[in-house]
Amino acid sequence: MSYKIAVIPGDGIGPEIVRQAQRVLDAAAARFGFELNYTSLLMGGASIDANGVPLTEETVAIAKASDAVLMGSIGGDAKTSPWYQLPPDRRPEAGLLGIRKALNLFANLRPAYLYEELKAACPLSDEVIGDGFDMMIVRELTGGLYFGERHTETVDGLRTATDTLVYNENEIRRIAIKAFEIARKRRKKVCSVDKANVLDSSRLWRAVVEEVAKDYPDIELSHMLVDNCAMQLVKDPAQFDVILTKNMFGDILSDEASMVTGSIGMLSSASLNETKFGLYEPSHGSAPDIAGKGIANPIATILSAAMLLHYSLDQDEAATAIENAVKQVLSEGYRTVDIMSEGCERVGTEKMGELIAARV
Ligand code: IPM
Ligand code: MG
Repeated sequence: MSYKIAVIPGDGIGPEIVRQAQRVLDAAAARFGFELNYTSLLMGGASIDANGVPLTEETVAIAKASDAVLMGSIGGDAKTSPWYQLPPDRRPEAGLLGIRKALNLFANLRPAYLYEELKAACPLSDEVIGDGFDMMIVRELTGGLYFGERHTETVDGLRTATDTLVYNENEIRRIAIKAFEIARKRRKKVCSVDKANVLDSSRLWRAVVEEVAKDYPDIELSHMLVDNCAMQLVKDPAQFDVILTKNMFGDILSDEASMVTGSIGMLSSASLNETKFGLYEPSHGSAPDIAGKGIANPIATILSAAMLLHYSLDQDEAATAIENAVKQVLSEGYRTVDIMSEGCERVGTEKMGELIAARV
């Protein structure tokens, strides 16, 4: 079996962490007898430097023609990088939003799981941590506040900015179905998070999720307001199985959930459309402050590569082997600086990749 993988290293720490994820993927391919053919693509700041725009049609076309896309991270330091002198629709982030939309990647899966070995890095008290937690955030990714009409104008002499939050029922239904399907393979609980006490778009969201729930009588559905959810994530994270939410809330809650697991450097993600195709990237950003220092944690990207094998290539055994290799390296006491704790051995980006690849 041979697969075409488009690789978008991106900016900042992106290239270093993607290199390690490819190394681990190659180890898995060798062990489980399949072949991966990579095509490297530019996006974000790297594409601005080379092409003047953060995303080209060529990048979209090659990504579309591949079996899956592995991505690092995009963007630079907003204060110092010349990319942020450009109009908003030409900045690195516009490339990421553009490719999500162009590939119709409406379902963003972000698992947040507490590794037994990383309990020491978890900022919550032992009481709250209890037996740990394991949740999946299902974030709508191609609608809502991110893609509504926006503009800035002067109204009555005042600078005035408008963003619009629009969801139609089809957009809500398809992401709700994804969440229920995923819950079916987990602990059979969906918590839908909205702001239905204020927003019309959230009232429609709730109504449509209720309709979808009728087809899933085996799944326990609950609703939670987003402000409460932000609190519950640090108060009792174990209550959550699948969290279903819209684009903006999912962005915020997934950063929070990742920190609760110890480090944002651990959280992987998959962005899927209606088919097997997907784009896989760590949930964290490009961390320009530590780029090139060789200290970034590659595990979120490595775990994203495992998700790629699982969701897009159906190479489940290889995916599990990578996940187990990560666990093994952690239990042997190796840590990058972001998850370092007393008595462990500190390693850099490359060493972490090497250790995991060797255990696949
Ligand atoms: C994420 C990131 C992006 C988002 C940014 C870089 C546009 O924060 O993937 O969570 O907000 O979706
Ligand atoms: Mg984010």
